[in-house]
Amino acid sequence: MDYAATGEQALARIAAATDLDSLEKLRVEFLGKQGSISGLLKTLGAMSPDERQTTGPKIHALRESVTEALTARKAGLEQAALDARLAAENIDLSLPAPEAPRGSIHPVSQVLDELAEIFADMGFAVATGPEIEDDWHNFTALNIPESHPARAMHDTFYFPDKDAEGRAMLLRTHTSPVQIRSMLRDGAPIRIIAPGRVYRSDSDATHTPMFHQVEGLVIDKGIHLGHLKWTLETFLKAFFERDDIVLRLRPSYFPFTEPSVEVDVGFAIQNGKRVLGGSGDAPGHGWMELLGSGMVNRKVIAAGGLDPDEWQGFAFGIGVDRIAMLKYGMDDLRAFFDGDVRWLQHYGFSPLDVPTLSAGVGAAA
Ligand code: DAH
Repeated sequence: MDYAATGEQALARIAAATDLDSLEKLRVEFLGKQGSISGLLKTLGAMSPDERQTTGPKIHALRESVTEALTARKAGLEQAALDARLAAENIDLSLPAPEAPRGSIHPVSQVLDELAEIFADMGFAVATGPEIEDDWHNFTALNIPESHPARAMHDTFYFPDKDAEGRAMLLRTHTSPVQIRSMLRDGAPIRIIAPGRVYRSDSDATHTPMFHQVEGLVIDKGIHLGHLKWTLETFLKAFFERDDIVLRLRPSYFPFTEPSVEVDVGFAIQNGKRVLGGSGDAPGHGWMELLGSGMVNRKVIAAGGLDPDEWQGFAFGIGVDRIAMLKYGMDDLRAFFDGDVRWLQHYGFSPLDVPTLSAGVGAAA
């Protein structure tokens, strides 16, 4: 048998293999269990010692050269396949990202993030409470007793059943019960904002059965109205991104604060629109009611398990949807909760525009 010719033939076929599959077929054909070269190796056993001495090295050399050729050809084909893939998958990083469908941040979420950012900078933590409340936390502990007209004014959604302690269950009508829960849970001092959903049976262009409020609560020693005014002024300037925000504190009444103040903010009329800034007393200007606040009523501090002779504080409540409308120029509250994609595309915010104090809390819509 002409081993040299067999070898040459095998090497030629290996060199001609154009892909890994056909190369693997050749490997099986030559070196597999039933392979031709494996077959030759098996013939060694039946040879005479002399014959084996001359033929053995030839067969082994044949197997070795074929094995080497297979390995080399495999490496070559793999490299070629990799080169081809790299060429095909080449990405031009200098091209802009393709337009893809994308979601946007709802103005309420955006404003909640802005509030958290601004108040965090003043040392406020974010607290939460349940949306399904009992009437003790929602009313009684906030100095709104059973017969109080404020209960009726809240248009409360009640559940048919009472809780285990016999308290009427309801959808919270405001975020103020979080004041009570924070005091009972954390004691004093306290500096929190409590944003969240609230519910009232009411519906028109400026009222929806569900809306958002943010509560503020500061409890410490020696707290007075000056702290309240500074905090609100600092917050509103940061939120509306204007230094000329002017506040007017008006005496008011809330059962849970004493004294209570309603806070108005000055606006000017520009192109038929109200623009915040400047004194509302200037000609062509006016005052807009913005939020309720006051010094926390002694009874509320006591209901929170704290000694009102030791601890004082202020609280405030703001309509989140309302200040979102004011800042970003929407005029119908109902659209906030319709889930209309066109509205969201128009008024929504880029997910990449995270509000930060350093970069500006009011991202461009
Ligand atoms: N809870 C009130 C409401 O929903 C808003 C409010 C007013 C909250 C005065 C306060 C406050 O904390 O001090 O109408």
